[in-house]
Parts: sequence; structure tokens; C-alpha cells
Amino acid sequence: MTGRPSRRQFFGYAGAAAAGAAVTGGAVASGVVGLSQDTPSTAAREISPYGVHQPAVAAASPKHAELVALNLLGGVDKAALGRLMRLWTTDIVALTSGRPAPGDTAPELALGNVSLTVTAGFGPRVFALPRLTAKRPRGLDELPVMSHDRLQTAWNGGDLMLLVGADDPVSVVHAVRRLVADAAPFARPVWRQTGFWNGTGSDGTPVTGRNLFGQVDGSGNPAPGTPEFEQTVWSDEPGWFAGGTTLVVRRIKLNLDTWDELTRSEQERAVGRKLSTGAPLTGTAEHDELDLEKRDADGRLVIAENAHARLSHHSTNDGRRIFRKGLNYVHDTGAARESGLIFLSYQADIAGQFLPLLARLDAADALNEWTTTIGSAVFAIPPGFQPNSWLGQELLG
Ligand code: HEM
Repeated sequence: MTGRPSRRQFFGYAGAAAAGAAVTGGAVASGVVGLSQDTPSTAAREISPYGVHQPAVAAASPKHAELVALNLLGGVDKAALGRLMRLWTTDIVALTSGRPAPGDTAPELALGNVSLTVTAGFGPRVFALPRLTAKRPRGLDELPVMSHDRLQTAWNGGDLMLLVGADDPVSVVHAVRRLVADAAPFARPVWRQTGFWNGTGSDGTPVTGRNLFGQVDGSGNPAPGTPEFEQTVWSDEPGWFAGGTTLVVRRIKLNLDTWDELTRSEQERAVGRKLSTGAPLTGTAEHDELDLEKRDADGRLVIAENAHARLSHHSTNDGRRIFRKGLNYVHDTGAARESGLIFLSYQADIAGQFLPLLARLDAADALNEWTTTIGSAVFAIPPGFQPNSWLGQELLG
């Protein structure tokens, strides 16, 4: 997956900027400081924290990321949550521009130009608090347990969520430390997950990254900046949640040992796409449309009945789409290693878009043999904030 970005990739990337990732430090048309058509995407940059939407949702996947889920302490009510959101807003504005947050105990670790982003979310229990029960976004409920799930309580649920991403892992760890410290009077962490993603080709241009199976992962996504993306991701509910979205976090263990026993063509059949380019087995280029009717000389469907790309494709799901952004993870215990994918899915409505897809894949997906979901959580991602407002103000102000 090297070479110049396709038109779709390039515009998808620029579209991400247009969709909310306006950039500090000057009026830059592309929205990304230090990145032009001739400049590799590895160029250092700052992503503005401001926008109609929280900016990281539509932006390219970060190289390094940490997710933290926190549970509210007893007695934290709507007003207290509002105080925490004001604090976090101040922190986010400082940290994303490379300045220490107020009270920062390690100010030298606050670096600029590392593409730092912070996304915050509210779990379903926030909408059980007095005066917030009528504000729950449509479809925001914990997911039912699927037949292939082997959920571990250590990776489940959460009342609040922070997703911090950057080009540099030190900046991620520092930002999380600051945000979690400021949350201490209100909430305590219940799980943390760290992950990594490579969305840059060897020549520095943006590409669709790969998961640890080696698959190109993300090709079928709606491209940021397109009407398809807008309809898939942003809520159009009237009221405080307009411009928000929802996030599903699934921690999915990959059995690399048994996967590695397959032939390359068995691996490709499980998804219905080629490992080399990510192209559908019925096409030649990554973004070619899938031909779900095509049969081989023996009359067999080229993209198998249980292939992951067939079962999850919008054309076989009444037009339902989601926007996926994976993070690879490894979890080492002594010499033992677990590998997997932190599967992140954004959509306007979890019950209406994500859940039917998940249930369909749980029933029949070829990939189920090598994947096991061990953690699950859902969050409402409030709309973005502006210089004169704060995160979640429409809900908590
Ligand atoms: C570890 C588990 C998973 C792996 C390794 C995986 C991998 C992939 C790969 C390689 C593709 C094809 C390339 C692409 O379009 O991005 C794909 C497509 C897709 N996957 Fe997954 N996936 C996993 C779990 C899920 C889950 C849980 C869902 C949703 C419930 C899902 C929904 C989709 C969708 C909607 C597509 C796009 C289909 C299209 O429009 O062509 N995947 N996935």
C-alpha cells in the first residue's frame, strides 16, 4: 500500500480537515499546518480543538492512542459533570496547542506539532442522572452480549470516555495523565487501552492502514467530507446532540497462531479481499466496488457467502453503514503476548446502524473463527466546542 494516494484517499483526508479539523496557527486552506499535496503527512502539525464536531472523529487515525473509561463517583450530578467538562475543555485547548495544562506537574512534556487530539464521550449511565434522563441520544444502550463474545469485566462499559491520539506516544501518555488527574474529584478510571495504527505509506503519503492479520482495514468506509459520511456519522436529532455521534469500542482478540496456519487464499476468502492491495477478490484496485454476484469457473461465488466484506457491506444490510477506525494492540504478560484490534465504530445511531450489522456478523461471519471480542462499551460523543463554549455545554450548561 505505497504510492501516491488515490483521489478518494486524498480528498478523504482533506475532507476530514474540512469536516471540523480546522487548524490553529493561521488560515490554511487544507486545514492542516505543514501538510500540502507535496508534503508528506508525517509533517508535524496541530489539529485545532474547535469545531462543530469533535475534530478527531473525521481526522486520519492517530499513530498512537489511548482510550480511558471512567466511572462517576457517588454524588456527581449534572452540575458537577459540567464543572469537569469545563476543566477538560481548558486542558484540551492547552494540550492540543502544545502548552501545559493548568497545574501541569510535568510541563516540559507538553509538546506542539504532534497532532494531539482528545475526544470525550458519555456512557449510557450519564443519562440516568437526574435532569438528564430525557436527553439520552437515540439508540445509546449497552450492546447485548453476542454468542461469540467472551467479555471480561475489565474491558467493559464506562460512564465517561477519553480517546487521546498523537504522532508521539509520550504526548499521549502525558495528556491522559493530566486529564485523568483533573477528573479525580469526579470520576476514576475503570479501564485503559493503548493502541497504534500506521496510516502512512513508505513515501509519507496517507494510506489505509493494516490490522495485525495483515489486512488493509478501512477501505469500505464512507470518506470524510462526503454526504455519505455526514449521514452515517453525525446525529441529526434536534437538541443538544445535533452534530454529535456515538462510538462503539470493541476489544477483539485475534488468534494469530491459527490464522497463520491458513493459506493466503484461505485468508483472503474469509474477508473477500486481497491481502496485497485490499482490492475485492472481484476487482483489481482497493476502492473497486465489490461484485457480490460474480462466480468462478466452478460456479462458486468469488466473494463467499460468509465472507466478512459481503456480510458487512451496506448493500446487503438495507443500506446501513458505519465508520470504522481500528487501533492495533498487543497485551504482554511476561513472555506471553495477546494481539488484537481495538475496533472503533462511529455512527449516528448504535441501535439503528451498528447493532443489526453486529448481530449479522455474529451469526455467520467467516472471521469469527479467529476473532474473540473480550471488551465492549458504547458512548455518546457530544458535538464540538468553540473558543467561547465548552465540551457538552448544550447538555450540561
Ligand atoms: C477483529 C475483527 C474484525 C476484523 C479483523 C475486520 C476486518 C475487516 C476488513 C479487512 C474489511 C475489508 C476492508 C474494509 O472495507 O475495511 C472489513 C470491512 C468491514 N467491516 Fe470489519 N473487521 C472486524 C470486525 C468488524 C465488526 C465487529 C464490524 C461491525 C459490526 C465490522 C464491519 C465492517 C464493515 C461495515 C466493513 C465494510 C464493508 C464494505 O462496505 O465493503 N467489522 N473488516
